[in-house]
Amino acid sequence: MSALQGVFLNHQPIAVFDSGLGGLTVLRALREHLPQEDFFYFADTRFLPYGDRPEVFLRERGVLIAEALVRRGAKALVIACNTATAAAAEAIRAAIDLPIVALEPGVKPAVALTRSGTIGVLATTRTLASERFQRLVGIHANGCRVIAQPCPGLAEAIEAEGPDSAAISALLDNFISPLVAAAADVVVLGCTHYPWVAAKIARRMPAGTILLDTGDPVARQLERLLAAGNLLGGGAGRLTVATSGAPASVIATVDRLLGKKLKIEHWEP
Ligand code: DGL
Repeated sequence: MSALQGVFLNHQPIAVFDSGLGGLTVLRALREHLPQEDFFYFADTRFLPYGDRPEVFLRERGVLIAEALVRRGAKALVIACNTATAAAAEAIRAAIDLPIVALEPGVKPAVALTRSGTIGVLATTRTLASERFQRLVGIHANGCRVIAQPCPGLAEAIEAEGPDSAAISALLDNFISPLVAAAADVVVLGCTHYPWVAAKIARRMPAGTILLDTGDPVARQLERLLAAGNLLGGGAGRLTVATSGAPASVIATVDRLLGKKLKIEHWEP
């Protein structure tokens, strides 16, 4: 990229997308780390949950969204969704020419931290069934036992009812007990929705269990890529939030999750 292009582009926002509002847990870390950047957050609520959709659908949808974000003027892209990464990151990288950070479950840091030799990974069915996840475990497990626990219904319940609903407690009772039984001492939050219920997960695990999410490392990686492309800064901390669903229903969830209402626009990529 030429210096001229860089100077022009650094005023453009960074695009962040997820199936819904899980990626806001990542956005929080990005904005804390990079306060001089503008962000465009896209929740693909119309197609939530991604975790139960076929891989080919997610690949095509991911590429369509990424191309539309380039046309919207994004200077970088964060795929703030483990499921979209698992299904579509390679296709997105092949389709667009932007710095891209793609989230995936933190198996490597979890293996480095475990003392019991057993880690748990909570993620969507689609993420855990993906070749990419199998590869990640193959490369990084290093002899550790990896309990991969799918959590169907959890992301939808968080979006529909907020983190404090009784439905979420019942789901978590089911999903967490195999990790306790296996003596996992590190739990990877392998879906960006799950940090919203981190306290509830921690309460179900023995004291001292480490919960890992990937917000901070993703923010550092994004900063490195922006610096390398001469794309850092140039914004003013502005945030635009858009959804492919009905803004009114998203506003209600944002209010429940963040305790404040954001202005949300409808956008169809
Ligand atoms: N937030 C997404 C992830 O990180 C997936 C939630 C969904 O199933 O849509 O995997």
